[in-house]
Amino acid sequence: MASLSIEHLSTTFDHGRVKAVDDVSLDVPDGEFLVLLGASGSGKSTLMRTIAGLEQPSGGTIHIDGRLANEDPPRRRNIAMVFQSYALYPHKTVAKNIAFPLEAIRLPTNQIHEKVMWAAQLFGIDRLLHRRPRELSGGERQRVALARALVRTPSLFLMDEPLSNLDAKLRYSARRELKRLHQQIGITTLYVTHDQVEAMGLGQRVAVMNHGKIEQLGTPHEIYHEPANTFVAQFMGSPPMNLIPDGDWLLGFHAEDAWLPEGDMPAQHYSLPLEIQQIDYLGADALIYGVLAANRSDVILKLPERRAHGMAVGQSRNFCVPDALMRRFDSRTGLRART
Ligand SMILES: Nc1ncnc2c1ncn2[C@@H]1O[C@H](COP(=O)(O)OP(=O)(O)O)[C@@H](O)[C@H]1O
Ligand SMILES: [Mg+2]
Repeated sequence: MASLSIEHLSTTFDHGRVKAVDDVSLDVPDGEFLVLLGASGSGKSTLMRTIAGLEQPSGGTIHIDGRLANEDPPRRRNIAMVFQSYALYPHKTVAKNIAFPLEAIRLPTNQIHEKVMWAAQLFGIDRLLHRRPRELSGGERQRVALARALVRTPSLFLMDEPLSNLDAKLRYSARRELKRLHQQIGITTLYVTHDQVEAMGLGQRVAVMNHGKIEQLGTPHEIYHEPANTFVAQFMGSPPMNLIPDGDWLLGFHAEDAWLPEGDMPAQHYSLPLEIQQIDYLGADALIYGVLAANRSDVILKLPERRAHGMAVGQSRNFCVPDALMRRFDSRTGLRART
């Protein structure tokens, strides 16, 4: 296991015209599970590939366990990487696929056998060792790829959207497995996804990326409740944070933080007189779409579904949000005001 420290790292393409990674600094302590979250094209894969030594940075440093790794070839970095496409060898059995990285370093046969069994048991695929990849389901193939990546006990584990090829239900159970795996072996992990639910569920910390830069790095709680700027506020949450223009500021609040008082407006609450335009019933919750009477800005609220009964399109209702949950952003810079 190892720590990872990146300072002012940049990676460019097209003779410097594309800044895929733009002056990124990041410290990942030993044993952490850190998620890089961003839309397609934000530079996540390039950052991973630069750390792995598959891309040459145009500037900055990469330290793995305190040692400068910039000049190390990928093999010497002792990094395991799993991609969206698992790239298993189709003609080799599962056992041979998992054993491949160990055979490449000429480990004695009995040790290879031991390690293959360890990795296969870890992922619950020890009954499939004699099969070939085409005889496996998508989820099983994904586990073989993970087992193969981990069998060399790397210092760092990099995963680039490893679950994107799985259907929603399998993704859910694979996520639970990855989390359990990390709790069990505690290997320092960098995990890339564009899926915010996956990021929040897996990451001890999450780095939100945009245009090659990190917009915010924090725990899932910090990223969600204390967004550093309007980009992060609008990227996280479903629906994303409401932003209401108010002079030089944007006032932000989460859809689920609004409620409907029975009588008078309570103290220390922000008042939201809303004209209801649409209601979506989603089982547990209902989404209320509306416009604010004062400035006609669009707002989406999320209520427990039972509380939305009796509301109808065309009605006006006075919702409110606790002052303590309102966030304020500079409308010019998008930066969060700290007061
Ligand atoms: N080999 C390459 N040559 C030129 N441009 C590239 C190359 N790889 C990535 N890019 C560009 O760098 C940016 C970041 O890409 P990438 O790291 O793949 O993003 P992500 O993984 O977040 O989707 C994109 O604009 C992409 O088009
Ligand atoms: Mg990518």
